[in-house]
Amino acid sequence: MHLSCKRSTSIIAVLAASLGLAAPSMLCQRTTSTKQAELKETSSVEPWWKHAVIYEIYPRSFQDSNGDGVGDLKGINSRLDYLKSLGIDAIWITPMYPSPQVDFGYDISNYEAVDPQYGTLNDMTRLIDHAKQREIRVVLDMVLNHTSDQHSWFLQAASSRTNPKHDWYVWSDGKSGTGPGSHEGRVPPNNWVSLFGGSAWEWVPAVHEYYYHEFYKQQPDLNWRNPAVEGAMFSTMRFWLDRGVAGFRLDAIPSLFEDIQLRDEAELGGTSAQGDPILARNYTDNLPEDHDVIRRLRAMIASYPGDRVLIGETYMPNTMELDKWYGGAAHDELQLAMDMLVGFSSKLDASTLRKYIDEAETELHGSQPLFVFNNHDNPRAIDRYGYGVHNEEIAKLLATILLTTQSTALMYQGEEIGMVTTPPARLQDVKDPIGISGWPKEKGRDGERTPMQWDDSANAGFSGANVNPWLPIPQSYKDHNVKVEASEPNSILNWYKQMIELRRTNPAIRDGLNIMLNADNPNVLSWLRQSPGQPAVVVVCNLTDQEQKISFDLSAQGIASKQVRTLMKTPGNVDPLSLDAVQLLPFSVYVGQAE
Ligand code: NOJ
Repeated sequence: MHLSCKRSTSIIAVLAASLGLAAPSMLCQRTTSTKQAELKETSSVEPWWKHAVIYEIYPRSFQDSNGDGVGDLKGINSRLDYLKSLGIDAIWITPMYPSPQVDFGYDISNYEAVDPQYGTLNDMTRLIDHAKQREIRVVLDMVLNHTSDQHSWFLQAASSRTNPKHDWYVWSDGKSGTGPGSHEGRVPPNNWVSLFGGSAWEWVPAVHEYYYHEFYKQQPDLNWRNPAVEGAMFSTMRFWLDRGVAGFRLDAIPSLFEDIQLRDEAELGGTSAQGDPILARNYTDNLPEDHDVIRRLRAMIASYPGDRVLIGETYMPNTMELDKWYGGAAHDELQLAMDMLVGFSSKLDASTLRKYIDEAETELHGSQPLFVFNNHDNPRAIDRYGYGVHNEEIAKLLATILLTTQSTALMYQGEEIGMVTTPPARLQDVKDPIGISGWPKEKGRDGERTPMQWDDSANAGFSGANVNPWLPIPQSYKDHNVKVEASEPNSILNWYKQMIELRRTNPAIRDGLNIMLNADNPNVLSWLRQSPGQPAVVVVCNLTDQEQKISFDLSAQGIASKQVRTLMKTPGNVDPLSLDAVQLLPFSVYVGQAE
């Protein structure tokens, strides 16, 4: 996940390190057009998700409708008109199922209901219906890797070895041994550690066995080698597909299977914020068996009408690995695999971004890329890429990369108003358990989960004025909120709105090939969007704090004229007279149509 962000060592960084994520090497010099012609999927009717802007909602923090300080489904419902005005096509709602909330919903105790603090099943069906009336689709989060330890399946599984549900989870007798953490003369079977800290094995006295948990011990991993688990999980997905959801975001999908021999992992050197060794994770992540399940899942959702979509949480070290989650040339796995390379390189480095954007266009066997810069697990991009001085410009620049390449766009609530990461200042205020166990090195994920800033009233319009929101409202809410920004023509919010509208209406931006330009320029990242029979569009981003002047020769792309017409530009940039001299202020953007 994030590689060089300002939060030093997070679970995400640990995972990234274990995946061997490294800075990309050389400038991408390839020409793209012929390759693309071979690779593009040829479909006359394109699925909705191909051009979509998908908006992630963290329900606890979006809109509180009943004054308990926690967001809820009725709150989301009340903001659908705002989402429509933003121009988004779908919302992905992070888990709203019943849950003890140890991992704020990612520990599910019932997959076919709604947690009372978020509302009822009726609220959910109403939300799906009201969203549909506005042509907004609803994508749900689906946690297949693990359940809550309070799920009835696990309670049964942990009650006796002969219970039919016992084999639904991953158990081990451990091996003989004594010392700290030993039970009845046994120690865990191997050195695996939880991504959230400590051993990945937890002892259950009633069955005299350890169970495996990749995340918190309250999140036991399901045993996907047992076909009954697949049957039960597919059935819960059908439950929601039957209620009209447009698809699923598959949580931790590369972690479904573990090595059957439970072999020790190699240590890569270094430790996590929780003090655990960083492990290779060759035996707990990315096992070939994961792909068999996804292929069957893809076939299952294909039996529903309306292009239901599978979106994977896929933190991969490079584009080639990412391609595997699409099924490579077979295109039979995920339709959208989150690309965490562009949005989490966390450095405004032209060669790195150019390489990743170009690879997404050319190395995915024509599958559709899905760029993402923000989510509820990582410090916000404005802080990771920002320098403090030009952060507004940088936010607009990142939005431009997200919205004008050919990728499907995934955004996270609050990024459209420039919300900043606001981690807790004191240990006693931390809500995310990894922030407690990792303090002060790892302050947890509260900073990126603070409530949505709707206006400049007390509690930013998230909750009533006399309510204590579950996380405090950051001070930035006075200037950065939907109401204020809606009325400022040059706000980040209006930049997002205009960019989304441009993406929707301009044929080259919507459909065209993405050809990187001036590939040896270390300061300016630029590309061409080109669609047959349509005017081509040049997108130019200055990644430095210095003014830049750049010229373009598009003759290789069959464009002889140097004339250009401005479609969008960061305020202050002048309209260029020709493509021979495009001038850019620090961290600014120019988007123009070649005429
Ligand atoms: C990824 C989710 O985004 C994160 O919030 C969660 O803690 C883990 N998966 C475990 O479910």
